[in-house]
Amino acid sequence: MRNIRIALTKGRLEHKTVDLLEALGYDVSVLRNKGRKLILEIPGTNIEVVLAKAADVITYVEHGVCDIGIVGKDTIMEHGGSFFEVADLGFGRCRFALAVKKGTDFYSGYSEKTIATKYPQISRRYFAAKSMDVRIIKIEGSVELAPLLELSDGIVDIVETGTTLRENGLEVQEEVADVSARLIVNPASLKIRKKELQPLIDSIQQAAHQ
Ligand code: PRP
Repeated sequence: MRNIRIALTKGRLEHKTVDLLEALGYDVSVLRNKGRKLILEIPGTNIEVVLAKAADVITYVEHGVCDIGIVGKDTIMEHGGSFFEVADLGFGRCRFALAVKKGTDFYSGYSEKTIATKYPQISRRYFAAKSMDVRIIKIEGSVELAPLLELSDGIVDIVETGTTLRENGLEVQEEVADVSARLIVNPASLKIRKKELQPLIDSIQQAAHQ
């Protein structure tokens, strides 16, 4: 049988996840000195870590080529998918917010509003729940540019420290949802390799909340 595979989101969540694996007693030196390598075996175990972009973590877990994954709730909310979300790991905390240029009100006036976002599904659902028609423009990164360039009236984006908004003359108008890192599992893997996976899931969950 192949190694147990953990898909790990590169970037923001990576550092904290590696710390968590270290706290579990694993030798994470390969993860700390990974260079450009994308699949890293944890020495002395049958576990390998797969480094991927957030949305791809979901894809690999959904398709069962990775057994478990660590990914932000933001990506889960945007993409959905068929997997079990088994734990809130408590780190990578930030929030989804509707933000606008300082001193402006997204809801003022009668004209149709435009939102720029990396998260079109979440934005669509959010405004649909308010029965509000909003034009949504997908942006790939640094969404804060859109209102500054007057492409949009506001953005729906993740806010962590608030620095990016502040330094660009934007502010939160309202909060949309809380976000944090989640542990996801492929349902078939959990069934077939329960003996190996359940203790690993339990220990990750425990270590995350210590
Ligand atoms: C995220 C988000 C904001 C910023 C918020 O972007 O889209 O731009 O971080 O963080 P802050 O509140 O601590 O300033 P990310 O760094 O992931 O880059 P990207 O927009 O280029 O994808």
